[in-house]
Amino acid sequence: MFSTAFLDIPALQSAHGEVQLPGSKSISNRVLLLAALSSGTTTIHDLLDSDDTQVMLRALEQLGCAVVRSTDPAHLNSYHITGIAGQLAPALAARSTALFLGNAGTAMRPLTAALALLGGHFEMSGVPRMHERPIGDLVDALRQLGCKIDYLGNEGFPPLRIQPVAAAQLQLNAPITVRGDVSSQFLTALLMALPLVAKQQDVVIEVAGELISKPYIHITLELLKRFGIDIHNEQWQRFTVRAGSRYQSPHEIHVEADASSASYFIALGAIAASKGSKPNAQGGTTSVDRVVKVMGVGAQSIQGDIRFVEAARAMGAAITSGPNWLEIRRGTWPLQAIDMDCNHIPDAAMTLAAMALYANGTTTLRNIASWRVKETDRLAAMAIELRKLGAVVEEGADYLTITPPANREAWKPASIHTYDDHRVAMCFSLAAFNPAGLPVRIEDPKCVAKTFPGYFEAMFSAVRAVPGSVPVICIDGPTASGKGTVAAAVAEHLGYHLLDSGALYRITGLAATRAGIPIDAEHASQIAALIAQMDIQFGADQQVRLDGEDISLAIRSEEAGMNASLVSALPAVRQALVQAQHDFRQLPGLVADGRDMGTVIFPLAPLKVYLTASAAKRAERRHKQLIEKGIPATIADLRADLEARDSRDMNRATAPLHAAQDAFLLDNSEMGVDNAVAQVLSWWEKRQPFGKAQA
Ligand code: DC
Repeated sequence: MFSTAFLDIPALQSAHGEVQLPGSKSISNRVLLLAALSSGTTTIHDLLDSDDTQVMLRALEQLGCAVVRSTDPAHLNSYHITGIAGQLAPALAARSTALFLGNAGTAMRPLTAALALLGGHFEMSGVPRMHERPIGDLVDALRQLGCKIDYLGNEGFPPLRIQPVAAAQLQLNAPITVRGDVSSQFLTALLMALPLVAKQQDVVIEVAGELISKPYIHITLELLKRFGIDIHNEQWQRFTVRAGSRYQSPHEIHVEADASSASYFIALGAIAASKGSKPNAQGGTTSVDRVVKVMGVGAQSIQGDIRFVEAARAMGAAITSGPNWLEIRRGTWPLQAIDMDCNHIPDAAMTLAAMALYANGTTTLRNIASWRVKETDRLAAMAIELRKLGAVVEEGADYLTITPPANREAWKPASIHTYDDHRVAMCFSLAAFNPAGLPVRIEDPKCVAKTFPGYFEAMFSAVRAVPGSVPVICIDGPTASGKGTVAAAVAEHLGYHLLDSGALYRITGLAATRAGIPIDAEHASQIAALIAQMDIQFGADQQVRLDGEDISLAIRSEEAGMNASLVSALPAVRQALVQAQHDFRQLPGLVADGRDMGTVIFPLAPLKVYLTASAAKRAERRHKQLIEKGIPATIADLRADLEARDSRDMNRATAPLHAAQDAFLLDNSEMGVDNAVAQVLSWWEKRQPFGKAQA
């Protein structure tokens, strides 16, 4: 996940790839509860891994379900749930059980209904915020049946105490009334729990007020059907749970991916999965058929937002689908402007606003007043941010019209404010396909975590940047100048990848020594051949593995540094490591530290820094580092060593260490790390177009 203050997405060109979307939260917790109430074992695939589902899983274990997570690394989100067959074990029913449900509303509501009907002693609580989330309408409905539920804190809110009632005492003859105009979750809770007691007779629920969020009730009814329970739905106002209802495990069930999350990848395909060509080895071109494949949700999805597929088709997307996948290609191009009532897909419709940037005229999205009361006033937010890009936008009380920038020159570089709204952030990532080749800045990118923590990583895995547009910041300099520390901090600040090129030479030196190959010119080709066989993996926190072995510490010794310096003087070795270094240049960008990053490896990099410090200072810093690690050393020896290393690095024939002509010089002898990092970031920011555009 990107936890940086902002994320700069370079200009993008095409889309091609497969993405697995996270499971839907609403479906995950419904399926868990239904599996728990069934008899036998249900294998649930693709469960969403989130706080809410973890809370539910823990609660189900407390209720006597067996919960087993798959150990297959390819299916870690598969769970085997063995249910309680609609009955608490007698030992459990006899004692009181305390359930802590965090802030998981999707666990608290349905569990309250189920436990009130199961007949045990329970106390249900959560975090302070949970105790501010109303549950009175549901408790009122359950009390009509005769359920015993008390408020332990404030009237109408958790925490709750539930006590058992004999089945014979439940009043099932009269319809149960529940409000439907505040939240559909209370109705969902009742629909899922009432089959527990609909044994001898039908049980009827009547909705008071106009039912909101029907698509969510649709999901509930569809999932109940999968578990063998058919509920009669009369106009969304009256629901009958039939006598003889019994939860039957489907044995195996896949949790659909979140259909709203799919909308961004559907748009991606419609905008950028175009047919194209690429040069081939014969000097001609080979055609490529680009396609974006979304795994986890298909056009037959039970989620309301799947109807985004129709809207995207209307704009020109070419979409095919199977039971749990969608394949999207560019169809009509430019996209077709549309005029559409979006009331049925309020969340996904925001993605249409982003697609409208690539349409052949003015797109109108109507009946979207609900946007004003979501995470932010989405109508106002979309209008403001689309205008920043150069679009002409009219913001009505309940509609939006979007006319794309008139031509390439009319597109503007924009820093997109995201209002702590995951959907704003995801929508505007699509602006990076602008024909002007401009990068797009997304502020506070971590806000996507609400529904899709890995969104940007998923997007980057399925797109190609405009050639040469993935930025590289080069930080070169002599040994112990602090470039590793500065480079890592700059990379972290920008959310960029990090290339510690020195580590590659250190690894090579170590591998050669271990293989017993002398490090000299005579054996250069042997060492180069060794490189082709090395399996190197870089992990978090500077962890390095060579052929599976953790060598992070081994390559940091003074001896390994010396061997690296020796090995790096061999031209064949340098050549053999070029591709490995180029491969680090990936979206959204790279910070590369070394000796020849700016001069040889990335000569066209947009920012090059040459970081130095006096030999005395560098020896002092290295000494401090070693002493802290408990490694004995003297400053005089260290200084002699690093001067020897400087001299070899600077005077070797191939790629000697020197500042690139266009590098900024930064002497940090008298400067702390923070200031050095701030200086590099400020040089970088001056190269970005965003500030100027907003000014
Ligand atoms: O940055 P470092 O101390 O980890 O580098 C170890 C050696 O590798 C250094 O003495 C020179 C060599 N090196 C190089 O020649 N080119 C690079 N880009 C990086 C390091």
